[in-house]
Amino acid sequence: MLDLKGKTALVTGIANKRSIAFGIAKVMAAYGVRLALTYLPTGNAATESKFMALVEDLHAEVVLPLDVGDTDAMSAMVAEIGSRWGKLHVLVHSIAGAKREDLSGRFSETSLEGYQLAHEVSGYSLIGLVRAFRALLTVDGGSVVTLSYIGSTRVTPNYNVMGSAKAALEANVRYLAMELGADDIRINAVSAGPIRTLSAAGIRDFLDLLHNASTHSALKRNVEIEEVGQAVAFLASRASSGITGHVLFVDCGYNIYG
Ligand SMILES: NC(=O)c1ccc[n+]([C@@H]2O[C@H](COP(=O)([O-])OP(=O)(O)OC[C@H]3O[C@@H](n4cnc5c(N)ncnc54)[C@H](O)[C@@H]3O)[C@@H](O)[C@H]2O)c1
Repeated sequence: MLDLKGKTALVTGIANKRSIAFGIAKVMAAYGVRLALTYLPTGNAATESKFMALVEDLHAEVVLPLDVGDTDAMSAMVAEIGSRWGKLHVLVHSIAGAKREDLSGRFSETSLEGYQLAHEVSGYSLIGLVRAFRALLTVDGGSVVTLSYIGSTRVTPNYNVMGSAKAALEANVRYLAMELGADDIRINAVSAGPIRTLSAAGIRDFLDLLHNASTHSALKRNVEIEEVGQAVAFLASRASSGITGHVLFVDCGYNIYG
């Protein structure tokens, strides 16, 4: 049993019940973590009330809209958590985005705008969040966890611009780890196997990718969001106190396949 009871965590990136971040938040809540959650504002009241209903059982103490490109919303989140908790133990970055047309076909056709968008939302947002929450993460020592995918280092059909964004994200983890270690803040990535989520649905032929990963994984199946959640909880806890700058595969052993 990990000792996370009473720790404070901000979990970003829940879109629906299939979201990896939802699996993470459920596991965190089960460990007794006090949660703050963010959702991407859509301006659609029905979507937002569906989100509120989904997260109700998590008993989050803070729920706020956050678009990572909106610095005012970021400051509001920091102010709310600062005044409520005065510190933050865990920051989970589970955010990615790219244009649909950049997740199929020829990588060389990626537009500059599409490239910038994917890198800004999926990679730079980690830097922005860490910078914003650094002071709160320093109070008791903190752990930051982000989500990556093996397409960062291995060519995956149609993953294209997200492959280069995840490569940058993993490099960001290493550079941030080196800088933040002196403040007792660790930062790691979990490289999850493919999971059928909203974001994944944007990748052309994703079901083939899912099938291929289960066939060629050691465990002969795909990973579940709760299994990713357990790994994130480990990295969030002091049980992983000697680990930083690391990319941990949680993919049923797919990464070992030659
Ligand atoms: N699903 C997979 O196969 C898989 C595998 C490995 C890693 N990942 C990574 O896991 C993370 C979570 O993705 P997911 O698969 O759970 O899909 P998801 O669609 O459920 O989650 C992605 C989240 O990013 C949020 N987001 C997008 N743009 C944003 C912005 N500008 N500001 C704030 N939030 C924004 C969305 O609202 C959504 O909640 C991503 O980093 C993804 O690349 C996914």
